[in-house]
Amino acid sequence: MCGIFGYVNYLVEKSRGEIVDTLLTGLDRLEYRGYDSSGFAVDADKRNENYVIREVGKVSELRKLVQEAHMDMSKRFSTHVGIAHNRWATHGQPSRTNAHPHRSDPGAEFLVVHNGNITNYRELKSLLESKGYAFETETDTECIAKLAKYVYDTNKGRLDFTELLKLILVEIEGSYGILVKSSHYPGEVIAARNGSPLLVGIKSERKLKVDFVDVEFPDINVEAVADNVTHEFNPRLVLPRGNGLGLPDGSNSLMVPGLNNDLRHSQSRAFISDDGMPIPTEFFLASDLAAVVEQTKKVIFLEDDDIAHIYDGGLHIHRVRREEGMSSIRSIQTIEMELQQIRKGNFDHFMLKEIFEQPESIVNTMRGRVNFENRTVKLGGLSNYISAIRRSRRIVMIACGTSYHSCLATRDLFEELTDIPISVEIASYFLDRRPPLFRDDTCIFVSQSGETADTILALKYCIERGAMCVGVVNAVGSGISRQTLCGVHINAGPEIGVASTKAYTSQYITLVMIALSLSEDRLSKQSRRNEIIDGLGKISAQLQEVLGLNDRIQAVSETLVDKLKMLILGRGYQYATALEGALKIKEISYILAEGILTGELKHGPLALVDADIPIIMIATKDKLFDKIINGIGQVTARSGKPIFIASQNGPTLVEGKKKENGSVETKAELQSAETSYVRFEVPETVDCLQGLLNIVILQIFGYWLAVKKGYNPDHPRNLAKAVTTE
Ligand code: F6R
Repeated sequence: MCGIFGYVNYLVEKSRGEIVDTLLTGLDRLEYRGYDSSGFAVDADKRNENYVIREVGKVSELRKLVQEAHMDMSKRFSTHVGIAHNRWATHGQPSRTNAHPHRSDPGAEFLVVHNGNITNYRELKSLLESKGYAFETETDTECIAKLAKYVYDTNKGRLDFTELLKLILVEIEGSYGILVKSSHYPGEVIAARNGSPLLVGIKSERKLKVDFVDVEFPDINVEAVADNVTHEFNPRLVLPRGNGLGLPDGSNSLMVPGLNNDLRHSQSRAFISDDGMPIPTEFFLASDLAAVVEQTKKVIFLEDDDIAHIYDGGLHIHRVRREEGMSSIRSIQTIEMELQQIRKGNFDHFMLKEIFEQPESIVNTMRGRVNFENRTVKLGGLSNYISAIRRSRRIVMIACGTSYHSCLATRDLFEELTDIPISVEIASYFLDRRPPLFRDDTCIFVSQSGETADTILALKYCIERGAMCVGVVNAVGSGISRQTLCGVHINAGPEIGVASTKAYTSQYITLVMIALSLSEDRLSKQSRRNEIIDGLGKISAQLQEVLGLNDRIQAVSETLVDKLKMLILGRGYQYATALEGALKIKEISYILAEGILTGELKHGPLALVDADIPIIMIATKDKLFDKIINGIGQVTARSGKPIFIASQNGPTLVEGKKKENGSVETKAELQSAETSYVRFEVPETVDCLQGLLNIVILQIFGYWLAVKKGYNPDHPRNLAKAVTTE
């Protein structure tokens, strides 16, 4: 997964210094998507040449290189195109050569930045090599740039930029979000996507007149376009008088005679003033909102197979190929994200900020959905589908990593409240098996980014088999939220830290809310439902209390920095907490942490237990408490020294060893045995919600272990936010 960013200023005068700064700021904001290397291309002094600058490492390294490049930063442009990229290596080592942009030839006639994975690049590469193209990099992206030149040359330059891209994109298999610029099409840029997210931010010196852009279907008849337009039309829209479409003033319908008078020229009218003059406009192309939010709040999310072509100050959206039922409208949306949401504020790292945001983010997840007085739950995105889900033969929850753990954490509750069989699937394993799936199955796809390739492919598999597909997603406008039939946004706000924290607790709560909605009609479940809703009402304050343990956790983590491995034990509802806690610790501190079901200890992992290995045991009170005590006994009997996550004022956890004479230790002896163990106490809540509090201890542990070991928890090695490759 990578970050891509592009900038076009049209009739807005900017110095090269400002343009480069805009590109580097965009890259900074996207750094969490990839930080192996970065690069950009901007126009050089001659119109058809480019400066291409690439560097290994973080954007700060690229900045240093820019200073050494001695570009004329004072040179001014009224129209300019720049494309930029943060890389998370999938094909080829992180190196300057493999960093983007990639070029078609030494003259850089075509330059490409790409996020995704071209699966047929080997075939394309050998075809192009047979035509005499010499490849310089180990990337899959290079074949796009070279293919562009090949198609351009074979068509003797007769194609416009969109036509050229259409011919290229039908040859490419796999996923892509790309930006292409070319010396043959100065002042123009193409953005295209298939499976990787891409959006266009628009900043205009004047208020935009319409809140949509038409998609061009030059090859289909106009009636069909008009049908689509009416279907998708935004009724809040008031079109300006004299817009060139022959529309009556204030009409909200495009089903009028004369629509066909010039669809092709209607595309960029949002950027044309009353007198027909182009409006000075800046366009920002990005793989996610974080890169554009400080520039503009007006964005268009592109769909798969869209080709956005910017030229002459206009945005023209075309389709690679025509599909039945595809909307011909891309609305210009006003986003609500604020700049401070993607800044660290007073925190040293995004991860810590996001951990501390949780009392608020979980309230946002429940806002307007849970009514604590009436004890009801209403999920707008599911309201029309709840009864159909209740009738399902089975619910299959599908996700990866942390999102998968949120499914595990709530599976028991779904089973208990719905009496529907529930299976929980890791998306990649689900795809490996391609298991039987039926039309009366409901599949719930849980994803923070909504972009994870494994989860999206599993979604495709389930759609093809006719199952009802429900999304539980954080990123609005993402692939999963668009491709599922219905769903719930978790509303956790942007999550920038690569290690997921606040998304986990919000996913967890969202799934609890879905289980509560599904059981609303079950009389026998009412008292349990009420208990859980009351628990949800208190959970934010309780989570705030857990955050108060930060200093103590930091101090304890100090004693563990030299450790190479660690066990985290939990059972019942806390098995998911153990797995998620272990994932947090291993991905940012690189300690080999293993989450283990306490009941499984004696079947193997007990062999690892000795006085040296750090063991965190989740021992909060619930119906399995006796079994937990049993597990603790197994560990302490092997000289294990657990760190406990226990209930506030909860009972003694450690049973004294039997004395040699066979008598049991006194209460005082038991308590003193326990004081030799570290114990973090968390408030008590309903059993099925306890994981929301317990996980916070482990998130903070992971954070401090990473920091104490000198690692940046926001940028764990080899990882990036949202994995858009299989
Ligand atoms: C771990 C982490 C990952 C993601 C996983 C799925 O901290 O963040 O395990 O949970 O890659 O990502 P999403 O939720 O975006 O589908």
